[in-house]
Amino acid sequence: MTEASALAATILAATIRARAGEAPVKLGLILGSGLGHLGQAVDGVAIPYADLPGFPHVGVSGHTPMLTIGDLEGVRVAVFGAREHYYENGNPAAMRLPLTVLKALGADSLIVTNAAGSMRADVAPGDLMLLSDHINYNGLNPLIGEKTDARFVPMTDAHDQMLRARLRAAAASLGIPLAEGVYCWYSGPSFETPAEIRMLKTLGGDAVGMSTVPEIILARFLGLKVAAISTITNMAAGLSNEQISHEHTKAMAPLGAAKLERILREFLTSLR
Ligand code: HPA
Repeated sequence: MTEASALAATILAATIRARAGEAPVKLGLILGSGLGHLGQAVDGVAIPYADLPGFPHVGVSGHTPMLTIGDLEGVRVAVFGAREHYYENGNPAAMRLPLTVLKALGADSLIVTNAAGSMRADVAPGDLMLLSDHINYNGLNPLIGEKTDARFVPMTDAHDQMLRARLRAAAASLGIPLAEGVYCWYSGPSFETPAEIRMLKTLGGDAVGMSTVPEIILARFLGLKVAAISTITNMAAGLSNEQISHEHTKAMAPLGAAKLERILREFLTSLR
């Protein structure tokens, strides 16, 4: 991290505190397609990304570019209503500044959500999948260019055991099935071909999507504990007769999102 961007994060954190209050944030939440309304459930202050210089200009429909700071189930959270994806501008580090700001606001944990295609017959559209691990199939990395030795981030336990156990317990206590599996990051914005999906399955993937992995790497770099959940919006290419499209993703995401919101609320209650 350059001194200029470290300074930018410090200034942004001060700006956010001035608007949303001084109390430290406990946890960050990045919302995927169809989950945008969760930001509105937070009792707090919503700040448009446009007011936060350096935050992404997110241009993907289905995402709400607001940072909401406040209380959700008794926990002080920072909810990122939208993310910049690699496919928007070719920058895998696009979420570095927002996550550095999250850390500066006092957070120790991050939950990442996304929409994904399932590569597993037992995980259907509308289901949820907790990420047990991931495959950075793109080979891109948000830490390329980082000059310090901090760039050599271990990824062995990237998906935090404790957060995952709490998410699992929250789902179980609500009787909501929560699959677990390996998420493959494929750059997008075009969807995959059936041959690519056969390859990703062979490599050990269970779900495929266009986000999340760079954010997990950045979170670990920043010393944030992290876990991620996918809402499955479709069977991946070639695994069903359904047409895959962004419209379909947006239409299907709310199915899983309603369940995911209940799990996240229960999970937050367990953190109080
Ligand atoms: N592939 C990639 N990204 C996705 C998919 C998919 O099938 N569904 C939702 N996001």
